[in-house]
Amino acid sequence: MSKASTMHLCGFLIAGPVVHSHAIWRNPKHPTDFLGLAHYVEIAQLLERGRFDFLFFADRLAIADRYGASHRTGIRHGDQDATRMDPVPLLGALAAVTSHIGLGATRSTTYDAPYNIAREFATLDHISAGRAAWNVVTSMNDGEALNFGNVPHLGHDERYDRADEFMEVAFGLWDSWDEDALVLDRENGIYADPDKVHYLNHCGKWFQSRGPLNIPRSPQGRPVVIQAGSSGRGKAFAARWSEVIFALQPSLERMRAFKADVSMALADVGRPPDSSKVLMAMMPFIGESRSEAEEKRDLHDSLVDPLVGLSTLAAHANADFSDLPLDASVETVQSSGSQGNLAALKSIAAGQSITIADAGRIYGRGVMCPRFVGTAKDVAEQMADTVTSGAADGFVVSPAFLPDTFEDFVGEVVPILQEKGLFRREYEGRTLRDHLGMIATKDK
Ligand SMILES: Cc1cc2nc3c(=O)[nH]c(=O)nc-3n(C[C@H](O)[C@H](O)[C@H](O)COP(=O)(O)O)c2cc1C
Repeated sequence: MSKASTMHLCGFLIAGPVVHSHAIWRNPKHPTDFLGLAHYVEIAQLLERGRFDFLFFADRLAIADRYGASHRTGIRHGDQDATRMDPVPLLGALAAVTSHIGLGATRSTTYDAPYNIAREFATLDHISAGRAAWNVVTSMNDGEALNFGNVPHLGHDERYDRADEFMEVAFGLWDSWDEDALVLDRENGIYADPDKVHYLNHCGKWFQSRGPLNIPRSPQGRPVVIQAGSSGRGKAFAARWSEVIFALQPSLERMRAFKADVSMALADVGRPPDSSKVLMAMMPFIGESRSEAEEKRDLHDSLVDPLVGLSTLAAHANADFSDLPLDASVETVQSSGSQGNLAALKSIAAGQSITIADAGRIYGRGVMCPRFVGTAKDVAEQMADTVTSGAADGFVVSPAFLPDTFEDFVGEVVPILQEKGLFRREYEGRTLRDHLGMIATKDK
């Protein structure tokens, strides 16, 4: 943790009807206006009242149609990819109605150009006064490739090679304006100092970009860089570039192992272990009593059809395994998409007989997010134990019900964490890097 007393919290969202939980849109209390702004404004302001470090919208660039080589299952049941609005314009709107909470979104290095991304996040960082974060993904499946005329989808490690060069270009563009380049001397008519604005002239294997960026340096210098790969190559990429690492590990033991791997990967590139904060995804179910929390969990789970989970799993694995019987072992599923997610799923299966139908249920209920179920005190204690045992620097809080999970969490769990001295009572700075306890890029 950056400060002995502080854990970091991120609210996980998708600009659509579900999140990790595929039950969200089926809850009768869930607003049906998830295509409108008001729903997201309500959540952003709620999370800001809870003093969250940031909120984050995950994203992908295609509907899911790996399972059964058709969109029918995912669209019929409303899977994770059935609807995703573009999160970056949405963050622009949320910047106007919040003042402190960080604003993060996913963009892909496989289907975009560094110049576009550098502009988008420099703009978001300016208009939010230093609250922008970019979750760098390399994309997962052929469906995404088909939307960009880029077939077949690049191989797993090659995507990360391209992503390395993408980051070199994006960082170069963000650095192309010195901090004091903007002069705005009205009297002498000097807008900016040309000596402090630099060409990049990048010419590499994947990208050519002359630069400079057409936007002055933003308050944070560049957005906070998030990464969530869990394969070996993904972790090496994260160690090089990230300041926040998202992970989804189904047990405390795997969280600890993941955090230890990250520390080693950071050491390999000469970075201190706390220079990238590891936030573990978790899904809280909070009740007045443990049995009430369990009832909420059971109600939630009753709303999930295994097929909806299989549609998302097939998209993550970039594989159509619909010809395998639902009672076949999950070990028979292979992935050319996300390597880390399938490995985690198989680790749950180790020693137990998890079938493909079980995998669909697990995925549909929350893509393997560990569940913290109990009273607010129970949930806070489980979070405290995870962080103090060194398995995480904080959490990606993934809602099972919206807005209810965040209302319960902010109203009941956050005050206990504050009481324990484990979470801030007030924001102490203005930028997202301030909240994360990190040095601003200009000070490096
Ligand atoms: C909390 C969390 C959020 C993620 N968000 C996205 C996302 O928005 N888009 C995406 O394509 N992958 C997302 N991922 C998946 C990873 O970024 C990564 O693409 C995937 O694990 C494949 O990388 P790997 O093969 O290195 O594990 C997320 C993972 C986690 C744990």
